[in-house]
Amino acid sequence: MTVDVKEHDDSMIGVSGLEDSEENELELYDLPGVGAATAERLKESGYDSVMSIAVASPGKLVDDAGCSEAVARKMINAARDSLKMGFISGIEVLEKRKKVMRVSTGSACFDELLGGGFETGSIVECFGEFGSGKTQIGHLLAVNCQKLDPGSVAIYIDTENTFRPERIKQLAIGAGLDPDDVLKNIKVAKAYNSDHQMLLAEKVSEIIRQEKLKVNVVIVDSLTAHFRAEFIGRGTLAERQQKINRHMHTLLKIADTNNACVYVTNQVQADPAQFFGDPTKAVGGHIVAHASTFRIYLRKGKKGSRVAKLIDAPNMPDGECNFFVETGGLKDA
Ligand code: GTP
Ligand code: MG
Repeated sequence: MTVDVKEHDDSMIGVSGLEDSEENELELYDLPGVGAATAERLKESGYDSVMSIAVASPGKLVDDAGCSEAVARKMINAARDSLKMGFISGIEVLEKRKKVMRVSTGSACFDELLGGGFETGSIVECFGEFGSGKTQIGHLLAVNCQKLDPGSVAIYIDTENTFRPERIKQLAIGAGLDPDDVLKNIKVAKAYNSDHQMLLAEKVSEIIRQEKLKVNVVIVDSLTAHFRAEFIGRGTLAERQQKINRHMHTLLKIADTNNACVYVTNQVQADPAQFFGDPTKAVGGHIVAHASTFRIYLRKGKKGSRVAKLIDAPNMPDGECNFFVETGGLKDA
């Protein structure tokens, strides 16, 4: 995973945060430069904890709090210091990694491909053509995270109006869970356009804190469809990529601060430059590719099966597996 360090000063969230999501003793007004009025303004803009300041970028804080950039930097640094977000040893990273959970797909070969399932604390991207199973996997994760951690809640941002409670029920039964309980523990929001989608993502951490939810999986299906539909033509590409970049950073923070698996789906487009092999590539370009910790390419295989190909992972070899989408879940082919 690489994050553009120059533009976004919040790149140091990578190894931290997993254990800091609980209440910390410091309050917003304990930070330098934050008086009563600024604290109020910050709260109104959704900054409700020292952690939310620690993972903010100075530019965003200037906009939201109306302070100078120097003050914003001071605030962020103090917040990071108080949360010990500087360098830590490899051993400490290893210790934190022990908190990572893996949500099973129900297919042994798919789980194995990913080192045991979909990892929390990461962004996992599935891209592929229509009907390749991206949405099915989203539904499955919303169910299986509850099997892994009973009482936990899945958050589902639905941009294509394809969330189906009926499908959740089938998968819940397949997983041996009570379908109504599972449905109660999924929070769904429909995103009507890309701005709305970004806003919903920005609200996720706030909702988790306010409602004291235990969230292991956040689904954004589809990550890129609205952006693709709204920004048409070469002239709009830069603006589109900037917005996607901001969105990815929001998602990265959600994954890191809540130790959640953020599952995003992505479409493919024809790559006219490719003459040999598979002429498809993921939408969203390098920005989505770099921000995703795991990238999986899904396609239709033989006899109605699906093929998942791991093409980018920090600690797993690239590989492929075959499975079927069935009423009750995934099954090895
Ligand atoms: P787009 O969103 O259109 O890009 O596609 P997608 O990748 O999200 O596809 P999706 O996950 O919606 O996959 C749809 C496919 O899953 C269907 O064509 C079926 O093959 C399969 N599927 C969906 N529901 C069921 C089910 O209840 N039983 C079985 N056996 N297959 C199902
Ligand atoms: Mg879909």
